[in-house]
Amino acid sequence: MKTEYFNPAQFLSENVKTIKPSGIRRFFDLASQMENVISLGVGEPDFVTPWNFREASILSLEEGYTAYSPNAGLLELRQEISKYMQDRFHIKYSPEKEVIVTVGASEALDIALRAILNPGDEIIVVEPCFVSYVPIVELAGGKAVTVQALPEHDFKIQPEQIEALITDKTKGIIMCSPNNPTGTVLNRNELEKLAKIAHTYNLLVFSDEIYAELSYDEPYTSIASLSGMRERTIVMNGFSKAFAMTGWRLGFVCGPSEILQAMLKIHQYAIMCAPTMSQFAAIEALKNGYDEMKKMVRSYHSRRNYLVEELNEMGLTCHLPGGAFYVFPNITSTGFSSEEFAEKLLIEEKVAVVPGSVFGSSGEGYVRCSYATSLEHLQEAMARIKKFINNHQK
Ligand SMILES: Cc1ncc(COP(=O)(O)O)c(C=O)c1O
Repeated sequence: MKTEYFNPAQFLSENVKTIKPSGIRRFFDLASQMENVISLGVGEPDFVTPWNFREASILSLEEGYTAYSPNAGLLELRQEISKYMQDRFHIKYSPEKEVIVTVGASEALDIALRAILNPGDEIIVVEPCFVSYVPIVELAGGKAVTVQALPEHDFKIQPEQIEALITDKTKGIIMCSPNNPTGTVLNRNELEKLAKIAHTYNLLVFSDEIYAELSYDEPYTSIASLSGMRERTIVMNGFSKAFAMTGWRLGFVCGPSEILQAMLKIHQYAIMCAPTMSQFAAIEALKNGYDEMKKMVRSYHSRRNYLVEELNEMGLTCHLPGGAFYVFPNITSTGFSSEEFAEKLLIEEKVAVVPGSVFGSSGEGYVRCSYATSLEHLQEAMARIKKFINNHQK
C-alpha cells in the first residue's frame, strides 16, 4: 500500500493558525545563540526568590503536602490575599467567593476572558501592551480592538480614544498600570476618567496589576478601589514580579463572585489547582515577605533613575516611567527602526533589547530595556549602547 504524506497540521484550528508567535521570541532565540550578551530583554527579576519563601515551600514538601489544593487555592492563601488587597489597595474581597489562586496572572486573564466572551464580542486593548493580550482575546473567541496610547501623552490613553471605539459588541477594556513595556502609571484622576467610561457604556475592566508594587513615585491606585468599580473590575495580580517568583507560576484574581465563580469552573476543568508547593511559598511571602519585597523595589527604583539619566544623556530621549522595571527610550535619532536598532545592537555590541513595535504600532521608534538586571550589567550595557550610537553617528 502506498503511504500518503500525512500532515498533522491539517488538524489545527483556524483560530490557532491565525495567531502569530511573539515578536520577542525571535530576539531571545538570537541572543541565546551568542556569547557575552547582556540582556535587557527579559521581563523577570534578577533576584532569586527570598530564602524564607523557598524554605516555607521546602517545609511543606517535607511535611508531605504534595496533593492537589482546593480548586480555588489553599484557604489560608486566599485569606492572606484578601487581607493584602484590603491593606494595600483598600478593596474587600471574600476569600471564599471572590479570590482564585491561578497559574500566574497569565492564567487569570485567560480564564477571565473565556468566562466573559461570546464569539465576536469585542475587547478594547490599550497598546503598547504585554504581548499576550491580543492573542488571548482571540483564542477566547473575542475580537481585540486595539487603541494606541501615544508618546505625546506619555503613553497614557486618553478617554476619548477609548470612547471612539465602543460599539454594542464591546464588553470590556484590558488595561495595565504600571505598564509593560512603557512603565507608565495611571494616577487616580486618570483612572477616574476611565471608570466613568466603564459606567457610561456598561463595560468590564480587566485590570492587570502585576506591577502594582513596583510603583515608584506615588502610592498605587487600583481602578477597582474607585467608587462603583469593584463590581465591574477583574483584578489580576501575582507573585512573579514584585516577589521574584516567576518560575513558581503563581498569581491570583479578584472580582465579583458572579464572574469569579464562572471562572472557577474553567480553572477547575483546565488546571485543577495552582501548584500546592508554590502556594505555601506565597503564604510566607504575604505574611512575612514585605520587607524583602520592598528591598528589591528600592533597588529597581535606583536602577530606573540611573538608566533614564544615562539614556537621555546619550541622546536617546526617555521619559521617567513611574513603575514596572522597564524604560522605553526613543531611538529615532539613530535613523533606525525599532527592529533595526535592536538587531544591530545585538549583533554589533551584544546587548539585547526588545523593539517597541512588538508591543503595538505606537511602540515603533522605541525599544524596551528591562532593568531587572544588576547595576554592573546595566553599566556595561550603557557603555556598549553609547559606543553603538557613536559608531552610527551621521
Ligand atoms: C503586564 C504583564 N502581565 C502579566 C504577565 C505574566 O505574569 P505571570 O508570571 O504572573 O503569569 C507579565 C509578564 O511579563 C506582564 O508583563
